[in-house]
Amino acid sequence: MAGAPGCHEQAQRLARRLHLPLVSEAGPDMLLLRLTGKRLELCRTGDPALTGAVWVEFVRGRLDHRRRSQGGQMLLRAVGAGKYRMPLVFDATGGLGGDGFLMAAAGCRVHLFEQHPVVAAMLEDGLRRAAADPVAGTICRRIRLRAEEFNAASWRQGPDPARPLVVYLDPMFPAREKSARVKKGLQLLQLLVGTPVEPGGAGRLLEDALQTATVRVVVKRPKKGPFLGGRRPSFSLAGKTVRFDVYQQAGTGAGD
Ligand SMILES: C[S@@+](CC[C@H](N)C(=O)[O-])C[C@H]1O[C@@H](n2cnc3c(N)ncnc32)[C@H](O)[C@@H]1O
Repeated sequence: MAGAPGCHEQAQRLARRLHLPLVSEAGPDMLLLRLTGKRLELCRTGDPALTGAVWVEFVRGRLDHRRRSQGGQMLLRAVGAGKYRMPLVFDATGGLGGDGFLMAAAGCRVHLFEQHPVVAAMLEDGLRRAAADPVAGTICRRIRLRAEEFNAASWRQGPDPARPLVVYLDPMFPAREKSARVKKGLQLLQLLVGTPVEPGGAGRLLEDALQTATVRVVVKRPKKGPFLGGRRPSFSLAGKTVRFDVYQQAGTGAGD
């Protein structure tokens, strides 16, 4: 990791916490976490397709746009955000927090799980910056970051143990979205985190989610991708590039 001038001490502390080497000059082909005066960002040096940086952004335009987009609306329908009053949702695969923020903006209380310490540190930074914004800050107060791996025991280990109505999963799959910025974000995330090594890994995530949610589990998939763990959902909502598979718990009614 690297720190801009004026951020050296803070960068040193963060590097120690994340067990990363602190470099003063970036090499030609590095995945680099950079602390600037403004934010914590991730970039890949020397790769023309992936130049620039990604960071967690809850304040400006892009998320407003997503909130109104077809994909954003479909996510909220799949989760059933409008059906309950401030439902508790576990976003078990936090990533850069875009989906979690959308659900919080729709009134959900969101526990945002992220297993990778670097990604979790970026989320922490994004939430801290958003806290000062009157609109984003109010939304982010509904988000509780949990920098840990989600599993079937997670609901018992929270600060106020309660089972969520919904568990949302967006396991890593190759980026197909057209927007260059989304693509870059996902590509960098994929370089950092990787896709599950063990093919059964994502299927186990679904099993854990099904043991946790009281009403439904929602899984985001590429539009033509196979069902997670080969398990058929109760119903699906499909958009241009992605699909949301909804697994309704027995006895809780179906339909979006
Ligand atoms: C495709 S990204 C999620 C993108 C996210 N939906 C967004 O809007 O930015 C998948 C993320 O899930 C995380 N992840 C995967 N399995 C997890 C688990 N069991 N617990 C917590 N995080 C997990 C990965 O580290 C990665 O950051």
